[in-house]
Amino acid sequence: GESIQVRDLAEKMGKTPAEIVKKLMELGTMATINQEIDFDTVEIVASLFGVDVEREISEEEKILEEIIDTEETLQPRSPIVTVMGHVDHGKTSLLDRIRQADVASGEAGGITQHIGAYQVTVNGNRITFIDTPGHAAFTAMRARGANLTDLVILVVAADDGVMPQTVEAINHIKAADVPFVVALNKMDKNDVNPDKVMQQLTEYNIVPEEWGGDTMFIPVSAKTGLGIEDLLERVLLIAEIHDLRANPHRLAEGVVIEGELDKGRGAVATVLVQKGTLRTGDYLICGTNWCKVRTMTDYRGRRVEEAYPSMPVEITGWSDVPEAGEKVQACDEKIAKEITNLRLNEKKLEEQKKNSRISLDDFFKQM
Ligand code: GTP
Ligand code: MG
Repeated sequence: GESIQVRDLAEKMGKTPAEIVKKLMELGTMATINQEIDFDTVEIVASLFGVDVEREISEEEKILEEIIDTEETLQPRSPIVTVMGHVDHGKTSLLDRIRQADVASGEAGGITQHIGAYQVTVNGNRITFIDTPGHAAFTAMRARGANLTDLVILVVAADDGVMPQTVEAINHIKAADVPFVVALNKMDKNDVNPDKVMQQLTEYNIVPEEWGGDTMFIPVSAKTGLGIEDLLERVLLIAEIHDLRANPHRLAEGVVIEGELDKGRGAVATVLVQKGTLRTGDYLICGTNWCKVRTMTDYRGRRVEEAYPSMPVEITGWSDVPEAGEKVQACDEKIAKEITNLRLNEKKLEEQKKNSRISLDDFFKQM
């Protein structure tokens, strides 16, 4: 495969060669300045610097991405969509309608497996939906730098209008700078006032296209199915404009959507693959956890051997339960285990530091 000299990597990352050599040593690789290291290792080294040096990763990451993801390697991927809005405005109903099946009754019948994310196919185009329970997960993901949503559907009930959590959602959308459409829901009801909702939203600089603004408003009803096709077509249109692509020919990277401890299967996590191809048997690092991918299950509950960009899969084989929003990276076994150990040690050291500080405070308090 491709490789780069330690000297050149250091220059690209704005580090001294000694710093790179030291990191490599921590990973169990003895390297000289002239040594060629492969790109898998480069990625790990960068992520180590990124993790330790606050958010300094962006520039490095950009440079590395340019090296790894050349124009020829990038392939179209499906858009990743999150539905947000005020309580009871119909987020779940809308997703259920889109899915053409009721999650609740499906689960009762033991048919649908709920994995926190799923895909639908519209006119031959696939869309990935994230079923985030409330805004907390979205915030956690953003706080961890995982901006995985390509597009948000902001649901506003046309009989209720802008409410506190609508405003919260708007703030999230703006902070993340992510494209969005407004779905005016519950249009089947007879006490709706869509004009009033549009008026209310202009106060937040959200102006409909028909009023000279740049936001799409789509009247829908999760109950009757009105406007759903239109909504999906608009979603695909926006996706097309953004030319969403990813490189499937590399070690996988992704984000944890949710994790839990399952009685029978141990730690389980739904991971959304963002780059590369994930395969059973791959090793992953994720925060202070590692994983040897034992099984992968798609949103329909079918076993799969490979997962591609924009595909959500439920994974078993974790050392512990990973948290929502944590980054997942495939690497070789040795690196996975060593990085996990390094991170665990670092965590321990930090906790010790914190504890010793507390006890010192206590000591002074007693004086
Ligand atoms: P939370 O998850 O609690 O924030 O709510 P939600 O936004 O997911 O709303 P949900 O889909 O649970 O819908 C709330 C209520 O509104 C339910 O009783 C739905 O049946 C009803 N509802 C949702 N969409 C529509 C619609 O298009 N028309 C009508 N008439 N009722 C709707
Ligand atoms: Mg809901």
